[in-house]
Amino acid sequence: MRILLFSGKGGVGKTSLAAATGLQLSRLGYRTLVMSVDPAHSLADSFDLETALFHSKTGDPYRIEERLAIHEVNIQKEIKRHWREISSYVISVLRTTGISDVEAEELAILPGMEELSAMMYVNQFRREQRYDVIVLDCAPTAESMRFVSMPTTLEWYMKHIFPFQRGLLRAVRPFANRVSPVELPTDNYFANIQDLFGRLDGIGELLEDPRTTSVRLVTNPERMVLRETQRAFVYFSLHGLTVDGVIVNRVLPSAVTDAFFQEWLASQGRIVEEIEAYFAPVQVKRVPLFGHEVLGRERLEELARALYEEKEDPAAVVRTEAPYTFAKRDGHYEVRLLLPFAVKGEVGLFKKGDELVVEIGTLRRHIGLPTSMAALSPSHARLENRILTVEMKEI
Ligand SMILES: Nc1ncnc2c1ncn2[C@@H]1O[C@H](COP(=O)(O)OP(=O)(O)OP(=O)(O)O)[C@@H](O)[C@H]1O
Ligand SMILES: [Mg+2]
Repeated sequence: MRILLFSGKGGVGKTSLAAATGLQLSRLGYRTLVMSVDPAHSLADSFDLETALFHSKTGDPYRIEERLAIHEVNIQKEIKRHWREISSYVISVLRTTGISDVEAEELAILPGMEELSAMMYVNQFRREQRYDVIVLDCAPTAESMRFVSMPTTLEWYMKHIFPFQRGLLRAVRPFANRVSPVELPTDNYFANIQDLFGRLDGIGELLEDPRTTSVRLVTNPERMVLRETQRAFVYFSLHGLTVDGVIVNRVLPSAVTDAFFQEWLASQGRIVEEIEAYFAPVQVKRVPLFGHEVLGRERLEELARALYEEKEDPAAVVRTEAPYTFAKRDGHYEVRLLLPFAVKGEVGLFKKGDELVVEIGTLRRHIGLPTSMAALSPSHARLENRILTVEMKEI
């Protein structure tokens, strides 16, 4: 099974491009699911589905045609299905603070529940082998990061905190409930957490395997948007996910000759070039700005034609190696960079703001650094088997 994750800044076109990709995949014969991980769903709207019909059935994937289904994770239904013990505990704690039941119920929808629920579905569908490709339409970048970092965080919690908390509570509960105004979580609560964790088993490896999961970053040819795209690229790499495509959406067609747009055309041209240089060797695709919204089946097909060649397979595995990785070894930080081809010449390394710039011969690569490494400078580099390892130190 393949997972294609569409991420990017708010409003850049993630939902439209994910939906168009779903159409292309199903046309090629893949059993395809487009799943929305964004709590502010717009997937059904994008297909211009009769909302009432769709929402009466939400909670499960909704089949649009033989090989194409869409799924908007419905958090209320999910809570009933999977989170009952956890949320009723949270509600009982919130009630003791004097807030109303309705408010408590609203607040008990904890950040991350949608993402976790979506991940459980991905895992379940993988086990059932129900689909060949799952296209994930993500929430804007910050939430997508939460989505991909969740397995690591949870694993840490389950290893270090969970057994301790559970053991401790077993011991103190008989006494504590008599003196504490806050009810302590029951054993069911812990059983619920354990069950949820079990459902997520293996999802971390799935997301980090480039033969399964690819990230497609959607951007617009504007500087502000590009900055966020670069940050997203860094963070996906940091979490071990492979970005194998960048899509620049809403590029002004060159047929636009109106004087009003001349400055836009020039700046977009520059930024698209910059995007290609920055993300190389990752493939960069351009999609024009249409003269209308992308709404409904026909428009989505038009978008799919702009995005893909007729027989082009969006699920093809085009990269199996992350372009760069970050690591901490023997107390120092390292950036490992995969070079697209054997290069010769002097290696030049320098910092520019919070980026590491690597120059080898005529090749130049900008690497955004994660916060933990942003204050460090390159101290040493070695090249072995097309992998350049740069040591980062405080200087
Ligand atoms: N190439 C395009 N030309 C014209 N309109 C477009 C194009 N791509 C997307 N749109 C329109 O832009 C709007 C936003 O697109 P979309 O909902 O796909 O973005 P999004 O990134 O999913 O947004 P959000 O972050 O809110 O989820 C929609 O009305 C869509 O129809
Ligand atoms: Mg969207």
